[in-house]
Amino acid sequence: MIGRHHARILQSAGSDAFAGAVDPGGDRFGALHDPALLFGSIDELLERSKPDFAVVAVPTEEHLPAVEQLAAAGVHVLVEKPLAATADEAREIIAAVDRAGVRGAVGHVERYNPALLAARERIGELGELISIATERKGPFPARIKDVGVVKDLATHDLDLVRWIGASPVEAVAAQCSHRMGREHEDLVLATGRLASGVTFNSQVDWLTPMKSRSTRILGERGMLLANTLTGDLTLYENADRPIEWAATQQLRGVSEGNAIRFALDRREPLVVEHEAFRAYVAGDDGAPVVPLEAGLETVVTAEAVLESARTGETVRLTPA
Ligand SMILES: NC(=O)c1ccc[n+]([C@@H]2O[C@H](COP(=O)([O-])OP(=O)(O)OC[C@H]3O[C@@H](n4cnc5c(N)ncnc54)[C@H](O)[C@@H]3O)[C@@H](O)[C@H]2O)c1
Repeated sequence: MIGRHHARILQSAGSDAFAGAVDPGGDRFGALHDPALLFGSIDELLERSKPDFAVVAVPTEEHLPAVEQLAAAGVHVLVEKPLAATADEAREIIAAVDRAGVRGAVGHVERYNPALLAARERIGELGELISIATERKGPFPARIKDVGVVKDLATHDLDLVRWIGASPVEAVAAQCSHRMGREHEDLVLATGRLASGVTFNSQVDWLTPMKSRSTRILGERGMLLANTLTGDLTLYENADRPIEWAATQQLRGVSEGNAIRFALDRREPLVVEHEAFRAYVAGDDGAPVVPLEAGLETVVTAEAVLESARTGETVRLTPA
C-alpha cells in the first residue's frame, strides 16, 4: 500500500537512480515503470546491484529482518513507521544499523505534513503550552494484519505529541476496545502527560465511518487546529480584554478572539520525507529526519498505552 508511493517518488527522481523494488507478492499496484526491476527477495536485488539506500515498507513484523539484511550489505535505510512491532525489535534495528555503520531514520510522515510543520513554526504565538489533542479515526483498511490500531495508527499520534511538545512522554493511561473480532484492539483513547507538564490525549480508531485527522495545540493565548487530511491550519486567538479581566480577576478565563486560516504551501509529505532522508544519506547531519531513537521511543510509548489498557493503571515511562 505505502510501498507503491515510495516507488513512485523514487522513480520520479530519474529511472537511472532506481535500483528496484522487492515484493514476493509481485507488483500488485502496477507501481513499477520497468517490470524487470521487480525482485522476489532482497537477496535477488542485492545480487543485481547494491543501492545507496532503501525504503523498508514491508509489514511491521518484517522490518527487523529486512533492516538487518540491508544494513549488513551497507545500504542506508529509511524504515516505515512504526519502527518495529516491539520495543525489543526496535532496539535490534538500531543495533543493526550502528553495527553496519550505515544511516537510518524512521518514516514518521506526519512530521512532514504542511499543517503540522506550520503549526510547529507558530507554536510560540500560543505562549505557554497547555495541552495537545489528536484525533485519527476512520474505517478499517483491510491491509493490516500483524498489529493493532495502537501500533499501526496511534504511533503517529504518540510521536506527534512528543515532537510538538518538545518533551518526552512521562505517563499514559488508556482504554482500548476490540470490536471487529481480531486479536488486536481497534480503538484506543489515550491520555497522558509530557515531562514538561503539557497534557495530551489521542483518540484513534478503525471503527468510524468517516475519516478524520486533526491535531489541536492549546496554549495560554489561543489554539492551533491542524487538519492533516487537508493540510489546513487555523489559529484561534483568545480575545484580548485586559481591562475587563482586571476587574473580574477571580473569573478570569478565555473568550473567543480572531480566527485566522493560513494559506500554506501544501507539498506532499512523503516527498519532503524523501528529500530529508536523501540529504541525511548524503552527509547532512542537520537534515530533518526522524532518528531511529525517536522511533524506538514511540514504540515504547505504544507498549505503555497497551499495558495501561490491559491493567487499568497509569503507566509511567522512565526517561531514555
Ligand atoms: N507512513 C504511513 O502513513 C504508513 C501508511 C501505511 C503503512 N505504513 C507502514 O508501512 C509498512 C507497510 O504497510 P502497508 O500498509 O504498505 O502493508 P501492505 O501489506 O499493503 O504491503 C506490504 C508488502 O510487503 C510485502 N512483503 C512482505 N514480506 C516481505 C519481505 N520480507 N520482503 C519484501 N516484501 C515483503 C507484501 O507482499 C506486501 O505487498 C507497515 O510498517 C506500516 O505500518 C506507514
